[in-house]
Amino acid sequence: MGQLAANGQSARADLVPVLAVASGKGGVGKTTVAVNLALGLQALGLTVGLVDADLYGPDAAHMLGLRRRNLTRSITLFAARGQAGSRLEVARQHGLQLVSAAFLMGESQGLGVHADLAQLLVRRLIVDADWEDLDCLVLDLPPGSADIQQFVFALARRRVHVLLVVTPQVVAHRDAHRLIAELDRHGAVIAGGVENMASVRCPDCGATNELFVPAPPAESIWGRVALLASIPFSGQGAHDADNGLPVFITNTVPEQVSAYKSLARQVAGLLRAPG
Ligand SMILES: Nc1ncnc2c1ncn2[C@@H]1O[C@H](COP(=O)(O)OP(=O)(O)O)[C@@H](O)[C@H]1O
Ligand SMILES: [Mg+2]
Repeated sequence: MGQLAANGQSARADLVPVLAVASGKGGVGKTTVAVNLALGLQALGLTVGLVDADLYGPDAAHMLGLRRRNLTRSITLFAARGQAGSRLEVARQHGLQLVSAAFLMGESQGLGVHADLAQLLVRRLIVDADWEDLDCLVLDLPPGSADIQQFVFALARRRVHVLLVVTPQVVAHRDAHRLIAELDRHGAVIAGGVENMASVRCPDCGATNELFVPAPPAESIWGRVALLASIPFSGQGAHDADNGLPVFITNTVPEQVSAYKSLARQVAGLLRAPG
Protein backbone atom coordinates (compact mmCIF):
# COMPACT_ATOMS: atom_id res chain seq x y z
CA MET A 1 0.00 0.00 0.00
CA GLY A 2 1.09 3.56 -0.58
CA GLN A 3 3.70 2.42 -3.11
CA LEU A 4 3.45 5.51 -5.30
CA ALA A 5 3.53 8.16 -2.59
CA ALA A 6 6.99 9.57 -2.02
CA ASN A 7 6.48 9.95 1.75
CA GLY A 8 5.32 6.39 2.30
CA GLN A 9 1.73 7.55 2.91
CA SER A 10 -1.01 6.72 0.42
CA ALA A 11 -2.10 9.86 -1.40
CA ARG A 12 -5.61 11.28 -1.07
CA ALA A 13 -7.96 9.58 -3.48
CA ASP A 14 -8.64 12.80 -5.38
CA LEU A 15 -4.94 13.33 -6.00
CA VAL A 16 -3.71 9.88 -7.01
CA PRO A 17 -2.53 9.34 -10.58
CA VAL A 18 -5.21 8.30 -13.06
CA LEU A 19 -4.75 5.87 -15.92
CA ALA A 20 -7.68 6.10 -18.33
CA VAL A 21 -8.20 3.19 -20.71
CA ALA A 22 -9.68 4.59 -23.92
CA SER A 23 -10.37 3.69 -27.52
CA GLY A 24 -11.83 5.30 -30.60
CA LYS A 25 -13.87 2.23 -31.44
CA GLY A 26 -16.08 0.06 -29.25
CA GLY A 27 -15.55 -3.63 -28.59
CA VAL A 28 -11.76 -3.56 -28.95
CA GLY A 29 -11.11 -4.81 -25.39
CA LYS A 30 -10.93 -1.71 -23.16
CA THR A 31 -12.73 -3.31 -20.25
CA THR A 32 -10.76 -6.54 -20.54
CA VAL A 33 -7.50 -4.59 -20.55
CA ALA A 34 -8.60 -2.25 -17.73
CA VAL A 35 -9.56 -5.15 -15.44
CA ASN A 36 -6.43 -7.22 -16.07
CA LEU A 37 -4.15 -4.20 -15.92
CA ALA A 38 -5.69 -3.19 -12.57
CA LEU A 39 -5.00 -6.71 -11.28
CA GLY A 40 -1.47 -6.56 -12.69
CA LEU A 41 -0.78 -3.23 -10.91
CA GLN A 42 -2.13 -4.74 -7.72
CA ALA A 43 0.18 -7.75 -8.11
CA LEU A 44 3.06 -5.23 -8.10
CA GLY A 45 1.96 -4.10 -4.65
CA LEU A 46 -0.17 -1.08 -5.57
CA THR A 47 -3.59 -0.40 -4.07
CA VAL A 48 -5.78 0.11 -7.12
CA GLY A 49 -9.24 1.60 -7.59
CA LEU A 50 -11.10 0.70 -10.78
CA VAL A 51 -13.75 3.14 -12.03
CA ASP A 52 -16.18 1.66 -14.50
CA ALA A 53 -17.08 4.91 -16.24
CA ASP A 54 -18.75 3.41 -19.30
CA LEU A 55 -22.30 4.52 -18.47
CA TYR A 56 -23.68 2.92 -21.60
CA GLY A 57 -21.93 -0.45 -21.28
CA PRO A 58 -20.67 -0.86 -17.71
CA ASP A 59 -19.05 -4.27 -18.02
CA ALA A 60 -16.12 -4.13 -15.57
CA ALA A 61 -18.23 -5.32 -12.62
CA HIS A 62 -19.56 -8.22 -14.70
CA MET A 63 -16.03 -9.20 -15.76
CA LEU A 64 -15.05 -9.23 -12.08
CA GLY A 65 -18.03 -11.44 -11.22
CA LEU A 66 -20.11 -8.76 -9.47
CA ARG A 67 -23.82 -8.31 -10.13
CA ARG A 68 -26.53 -5.86 -9.13
CA ARG A 69 -29.96 -7.20 -9.90
CA ASN A 70 -32.24 -4.58 -8.29
CA LEU A 71 -33.62 -1.85 -10.49
CA THR A 72 -32.97 1.75 -9.49
CA ARG A 73 -35.68 4.43 -9.40
CA SER A 74 -33.50 7.44 -8.70
CA ILE A 75 -29.84 8.33 -8.81
CA THR A 76 -28.17 10.99 -6.67
CA LEU A 77 -26.00 13.11 -8.91
CA PHE A 78 -24.76 15.55 -6.33
CA ALA A 79 -24.85 15.57 -2.54
CA ALA A 80 -22.86 17.84 -0.27
CA ARG A 81 -20.30 16.23 2.04
CA GLY A 82 -21.93 14.82 5.16
CA GLN A 83 -25.39 14.73 3.55
CA ALA A 84 -27.17 11.35 3.40
CA GLY A 85 -26.12 9.50 0.27
CA SER A 86 -23.13 11.75 -0.33
CA ARG A 87 -20.62 8.88 -0.32
CA LEU A 88 -20.64 5.95 -2.73
CA GLU A 89 -19.95 2.49 -1.47
CA VAL A 90 -16.90 0.84 -3.00
CA ALA A 91 -17.15 -2.85 -3.93
CA ARG A 92 -14.17 -5.14 -3.40
CA GLN A 93 -13.28 -8.10 -5.56
CA HIS A 94 -9.96 -9.93 -5.93
CA GLY A 95 -8.41 -7.21 -3.79
CA LEU A 96 -9.45 -4.42 -6.18
CA GLN A 97 -11.67 -1.54 -5.16
CA LEU A 98 -14.39 -0.89 -7.72
CA VAL A 99 -17.10 1.67 -8.34
CA SER A 100 -19.33 1.29 -11.35
CA ALA A 101 -22.21 2.95 -13.09
CA ALA A 102 -23.67 -0.57 -13.01
CA PHE A 103 -24.08 -0.22 -9.21
CA LEU A 104 -26.13 2.94 -9.64
CA MET A 105 -28.64 1.22 -11.87
CA GLY A 106 -29.99 -2.27 -12.27
CA GLU A 107 -28.13 -4.77 -14.42
CA SER A 108 -30.70 -4.54 -17.21
CA GLN A 109 -31.14 -0.75 -17.06
CA GLY A 110 -29.56 1.68 -19.47
CA LEU A 111 -28.73 5.23 -18.56
CA GLY A 112 -30.58 7.59 -20.85
CA VAL A 113 -29.26 10.87 -19.49
CA HIS A 114 -28.12 14.06 -21.12
CA ALA A 115 -24.36 14.41 -21.58
CA ASP A 116 -24.10 17.06 -18.81
CA LEU A 117 -25.69 14.69 -16.32
CA ALA A 118 -23.49 11.86 -17.50
CA GLN A 119 -20.47 14.02 -16.67
CA LEU A 120 -21.83 14.68 -13.17
CA LEU A 121 -22.37 11.00 -12.68
CA VAL A 122 -18.83 10.12 -13.71
CA ARG A 123 -17.49 12.88 -11.48
CA ARG A 124 -19.44 11.32 -8.63
CA LEU A 125 -18.01 7.87 -9.31
CA ILE A 126 -14.49 9.25 -9.12
CA VAL A 127 -14.71 11.89 -6.40
CA ASP A 128 -17.48 10.72 -4.06
CA ALA A 129 -16.53 7.06 -3.71
CA ASP A 130 -15.27 5.82 -0.35
CA TRP A 131 -11.84 4.75 -1.60
CA GLU A 132 -9.36 3.45 0.92
CA ASP A 133 -5.60 4.14 0.75
CA LEU A 134 -5.39 4.30 -3.02
CA ASP A 135 -2.18 4.46 -5.02
CA CYS A 136 -3.82 4.93 -8.41
CA LEU A 137 -7.11 4.84 -10.27
CA VAL A 138 -7.73 2.89 -13.47
CA LEU A 139 -10.66 4.30 -15.47
CA ASP A 140 -12.57 2.21 -17.98
CA LEU A 141 -14.03 4.73 -20.44
CA PRO A 142 -16.79 4.45 -23.04
CA PRO A 143 -15.52 4.37 -26.64
CA GLY A 144 -14.99 7.54 -28.61
CA SER A 145 -14.08 11.07 -27.69
CA ALA A 146 -17.43 12.43 -26.53
CA ASP A 147 -18.44 14.24 -23.38
CA ILE A 148 -17.45 11.82 -20.65
CA GLN A 149 -13.94 11.46 -21.94
CA GLN A 150 -13.65 15.23 -22.23
CA PHE A 151 -14.69 15.56 -18.62
CA VAL A 152 -12.11 13.02 -17.53
CA PHE A 153 -9.32 14.53 -19.59
CA ALA A 154 -10.16 17.91 -18.13
CA LEU A 155 -10.00 16.73 -14.49
CA ALA A 156 -8.14 19.79 -13.39
CA ARG A 157 -6.11 18.72 -10.40
CA ARG A 158 -4.36 15.66 -11.63
CA ARG A 159 -2.52 14.38 -14.59
CA VAL A 160 -4.50 11.86 -16.65
CA HIS A 161 -2.44 9.26 -18.45
CA VAL A 162 -4.31 7.65 -21.31
CA LEU A 163 -3.80 4.10 -22.49
CA LEU A 164 -5.18 3.56 -25.99
CA VAL A 165 -6.54 0.16 -26.94
CA VAL A 166 -6.78 -0.86 -30.59
CA THR A 167 -7.23 -4.08 -32.49
CA PRO A 168 -4.97 -4.45 -35.55
CA GLN A 169 -7.63 -3.45 -38.11
CA VAL A 170 -7.46 -0.17 -39.95
CA VAL A 171 -10.87 1.02 -38.66
CA ALA A 172 -9.66 0.78 -35.04
CA HIS A 173 -6.56 2.80 -35.91
CA ARG A 174 -8.52 5.44 -37.86
CA ASP A 175 -10.89 5.97 -34.94
CA ALA A 176 -7.92 6.05 -32.53
CA HIS A 177 -6.40 8.91 -34.55
CA ARG A 178 -9.59 10.93 -33.96
CA LEU A 179 -9.29 10.29 -30.23
CA ILE A 180 -5.59 11.25 -30.26
CA ALA A 181 -6.54 14.61 -31.81
CA GLU A 182 -8.99 15.19 -28.90
CA LEU A 183 -6.40 14.13 -26.35
CA ASP A 184 -3.91 16.59 -27.79
CA ARG A 185 -6.53 19.34 -27.50
CA HIS A 186 -7.04 18.55 -23.80
CA GLY A 187 -3.36 18.20 -22.97
CA ALA A 188 -3.80 14.61 -21.76
CA VAL A 189 -0.68 12.46 -21.64
CA ILE A 190 -0.77 9.41 -23.89
CA ALA A 191 0.94 6.72 -21.85
CA GLY A 192 1.03 4.34 -24.81
CA GLY A 193 -1.11 1.78 -26.53
CA VAL A 194 -2.16 -1.83 -26.38
CA GLU A 195 -2.75 -3.91 -29.47
CA ASN A 196 -5.47 -6.38 -28.50
CA MET A 197 -6.39 -9.56 -30.36
CA ALA A 198 -3.03 -9.15 -32.03
CA SER A 199 -2.52 -12.79 -32.93
CA VAL A 200 -3.92 -16.24 -32.34
CA ARG A 201 -2.02 -19.35 -31.29
CA CYS A 202 -2.80 -22.61 -33.05
CA PRO A 203 -3.75 -25.08 -30.31
CA ASP A 204 -2.41 -28.01 -32.39
CA CYS A 205 1.00 -26.83 -33.62
CA GLY A 206 1.60 -23.81 -31.32
CA ALA A 207 2.27 -21.51 -34.30
CA THR A 208 1.23 -17.86 -33.89
CA ASN A 209 -0.86 -16.39 -36.70
CA GLU A 210 -2.25 -12.94 -37.38
CA LEU A 211 -5.98 -12.73 -36.70
CA PHE A 212 -6.60 -9.62 -38.82
CA VAL A 213 -4.89 -7.85 -41.68
CA PRO A 214 -3.03 -5.08 -39.80
CA ALA A 215 -3.53 -1.38 -40.57
CA PRO A 216 -0.96 -0.14 -43.10
CA PRO A 217 1.89 1.95 -41.56
CA ALA A 218 0.46 5.17 -43.02
CA GLU A 219 -2.79 4.68 -41.05
CA SER A 220 -1.42 2.90 -37.98
CA ILE A 221 -1.06 4.74 -34.66
CA TRP A 222 2.22 2.98 -33.86
CA GLY A 223 4.18 5.69 -35.65
CA ARG A 224 3.28 8.09 -32.85
CA VAL A 225 2.07 6.02 -29.88
CA ALA A 226 4.39 3.65 -27.99
CA LEU A 227 3.23 0.03 -28.25
CA LEU A 228 3.33 -1.20 -24.63
CA ALA A 229 1.77 -4.64 -25.10
CA SER A 230 0.33 -7.02 -27.67
CA ILE A 231 -2.39 -9.22 -26.22
CA PRO A 232 -3.10 -12.40 -28.20
CA PHE A 233 -6.65 -13.54 -28.97
CA SER A 234 -8.02 -16.30 -26.77
CA GLY A 235 -11.53 -17.75 -26.86
CA GLN A 236 -10.86 -19.31 -23.45
CA GLY A 237 -9.91 -15.91 -22.01
CA ALA A 238 -13.15 -14.40 -23.38
CA HIS A 239 -15.15 -17.26 -21.90
CA ASP A 240 -13.52 -16.78 -18.49
CA ALA A 241 -14.27 -13.04 -18.68
CA ASP A 242 -17.92 -13.74 -19.54
CA ASN A 243 -18.08 -15.81 -16.35
CA GLY A 244 -16.66 -13.05 -14.20
CA LEU A 245 -13.15 -14.48 -14.01
CA PRO A 246 -10.38 -12.31 -15.47
CA VAL A 247 -7.56 -14.25 -17.10
CA PHE A 248 -5.10 -12.65 -14.67
CA ILE A 249 -6.91 -14.64 -11.94
CA THR A 250 -7.59 -17.90 -13.82
CA ASN A 251 -4.15 -17.99 -15.48
CA THR A 252 -5.67 -20.17 -18.22
CA VAL A 253 -3.90 -18.19 -20.97
CA PRO A 254 -0.29 -17.72 -19.82
CA GLU A 255 0.72 -15.70 -22.91
CA GLN A 256 -2.00 -13.12 -22.09
CA VAL A 257 -1.02 -13.02 -18.42
CA SER A 258 2.66 -12.40 -19.21
CA ALA A 259 1.65 -9.58 -21.61
CA TYR A 260 -0.48 -8.00 -18.84
CA LYS A 261 2.36 -8.33 -16.32
CA SER A 262 4.76 -6.57 -18.66
CA LEU A 263 2.12 -3.87 -19.35
CA ALA A 264 1.55 -3.36 -15.61
CA ARG A 265 5.29 -2.91 -14.95
CA GLN A 266 5.53 -0.25 -17.67
CA VAL A 267 2.38 1.56 -16.52
CA ALA A 268 3.54 1.53 -12.87
CA GLY A 269 6.79 3.14 -14.03
CA LEU A 270 4.89 5.85 -15.92
CA LEU A 271 2.57 6.56 -12.98
CA ARG A 272 5.56 6.85 -10.63
CA ALA A 273 7.34 9.35 -12.88
CA PRO A 274 7.27 12.88 -11.43
CA GLY A 275 5.22 15.61 -13.07
N1 LIG B 1 -7.66 -10.80 -26.44
C1 LIG B 1 -8.92 -11.22 -26.53
N2 LIG B 1 -9.19 -12.47 -26.99
C2 LIG B 1 -10.48 -12.90 -27.10
N3 LIG B 1 -11.55 -12.18 -26.76
C3 LIG B 1 -11.33 -10.93 -26.27
C4 LIG B 1 -10.02 -10.40 -26.12
N4 LIG B 1 -10.13 -9.14 -25.61
C5 LIG B 1 -11.44 -8.91 -25.43
N5 LIG B 1 -12.17 -9.98 -25.83
C6 LIG B 1 -13.63 -10.14 -25.81
O1 LIG B 1 -14.18 -9.18 -26.71
C7 LIG B 1 -15.38 -8.63 -26.19
C8 LIG B 1 -15.24 -7.11 -26.08
O2 LIG B 1 -14.25 -6.81 -25.10
P1 LIG B 1 -14.44 -5.60 -24.08
O3 LIG B 1 -13.28 -5.63 -23.16
O4 LIG B 1 -15.81 -5.63 -23.50
O5 LIG B 1 -14.31 -4.38 -25.10
P2 LIG B 1 -14.72 -2.83 -24.90
O6 LIG B 1 -14.66 -2.52 -23.44
O7 LIG B 1 -13.68 -2.07 -25.69
O8 LIG B 1 -16.09 -2.67 -25.48
C9 LIG B 1 -15.62 -9.32 -24.84
O9 LIG B 1 -16.50 -10.39 -25.03
C10 LIG B 1 -14.23 -9.81 -24.43
O10 LIG B 1 -14.27 -10.95 -23.61
MG1 LIG C 1 -16.12 -1.80 -22.12
